[in-house]
Amino acid sequence: MWIFKVGVVGAGAMGGGIAQVVTFTGLPVVVKDIVQSQLDLAQHTVEGIYQARVDRGKMTAGQMQEKLSLISYTLSYDDLSDVDIVIEAVPEVLSVKQRVLKELDQVCMPETIFASNTSALSITEMGAATSRPNKVIGMHFFNPAHVMKLVEIIPGAQTDQETIDTVQQFTQDLRKIPVIVKECPGFLVNRLLMPYLNEAVLAAQEGAATIAQIDEALGSGGFGWPMGPFILQDMLGIDVCAHVGEYLYSQYGERVRPAKLYYQLVEKKRFGEKTGVGFYIYTAPDAEPIDAIIKRLQESGEVPTGTKFSVDRLILPFLNEAAMCVAENIANVYDVDMACIAGIGMQVNRGGELVRMGPLEYMDELGLDVVVGKLEALEQELGARFHPTDILYQKVRQGNLGKKTGLGFREYSA
Ligand code: 3HC
Repeated sequence: MWIFKVGVVGAGAMGGGIAQVVTFTGLPVVVKDIVQSQLDLAQHTVEGIYQARVDRGKMTAGQMQEKLSLISYTLSYDDLSDVDIVIEAVPEVLSVKQRVLKELDQVCMPETIFASNTSALSITEMGAATSRPNKVIGMHFFNPAHVMKLVEIIPGAQTDQETIDTVQQFTQDLRKIPVIVKECPGFLVNRLLMPYLNEAVLAAQEGAATIAQIDEALGSGGFGWPMGPFILQDMLGIDVCAHVGEYLYSQYGERVRPAKLYYQLVEKKRFGEKTGVGFYIYTAPDAEPIDAIIKRLQESGEVPTGTKFSVDRLILPFLNEAAMCVAENIANVYDVDMACIAGIGMQVNRGGELVRMGPLEYMDELGLDVVVGKLEALEQELGARFHPTDILYQKVRQGNLGKKTGLGFREYSA
């Protein structure tokens, strides 16, 4: 099936970013929301992205106008009656998403595909709310949507092959990299990313290091990530991270129990860049410094204190979860690595040179015996959430230790 016209439901920054990506390829798009202010925000986002290209001399003002004319903004579902695919980016609440899909079911053509940009929720349960579960699929973009190359494609239990093929082709037409991911809570990348981000927050709330120190240690001058974990969460929205974290906790249990500091920040509406204050202060000069909030949390006795910070403490849960995803066939080894490079810009700092590398290749390089040893030491020090997953033990028992033995998660020629 060919996609000639697209709908985006749920405006705002993410919806706006997706609409920009669609128009950039020359396709018309209808952006729908229930409130005008959200449509205005989406319009502002799209125009900002195009204006930046004009300012950099990458397109003319005339070309920008051509692209902008491909977008219409609406408060009415009726304007979605002739689109071939709808990408929904409404709030991350299953019942809200199900309601929106039900409403779309009434107005859209029977063959229209419903793609959800959910970060973690069940595609199968969304599909079940419609009369077309075979045409419901996950299409998960990464923030900023116009920059990050990855789109995770998540078929639900009922999604048919034609829908998967169409969305895969459509993703490539959008000049993005599609990676097919087996449905599981958090899918692939968020499932790996969130334990890492959560561990950063745990380390900060326990006084292991300051927020700035942790960002420096993990960012491009340290471990190598394009952004430290707190700068990244302020960009993504602390509310979004807390919400995804809470959902993963409900599905995976103790190993991903969210740090208490998330709840405190969400309660204070410190969501990050979008509210002017999060872990860092942006445009709210009177906001309380984060150190004071952490100090109060420590004094309440609700969190342990005096734990140690290390880069390993944050990276090893990410690696362990990647190994788990391979064992569960969530994606193949090459796709896991590709997804982390294209979705969250994973790179490793080698003496000042940043080398793009996914978690499985990185573990193979470290040596899987070394990875197990590090996880066991962290488990002793900080608890069961660091317990090495079975597949790591299996590979070590088989002597498949990574690059040094020619076989680990990948195979290496001598
Ligand atoms: N918010 C929004 N857009 C931003 C931004 C921010 N904080 N920082 C940079 N950008 C945009 C810029 O406006 C620019 O857009 P333009 O091309 O239209 O001008 C573009 O990103 C590139 O910016 P820079 O030229 O300044 O490039 P950098 O080298 O600084 O890279 C980055 C910026 C691409 C954001 C890079 O730091 C990066 O890759 N960070 C990691 C981001 C990441 O991990 N995203 C995925 C998070 S997980 C997720 O989204 C899943 C969800 O479900 C939670």
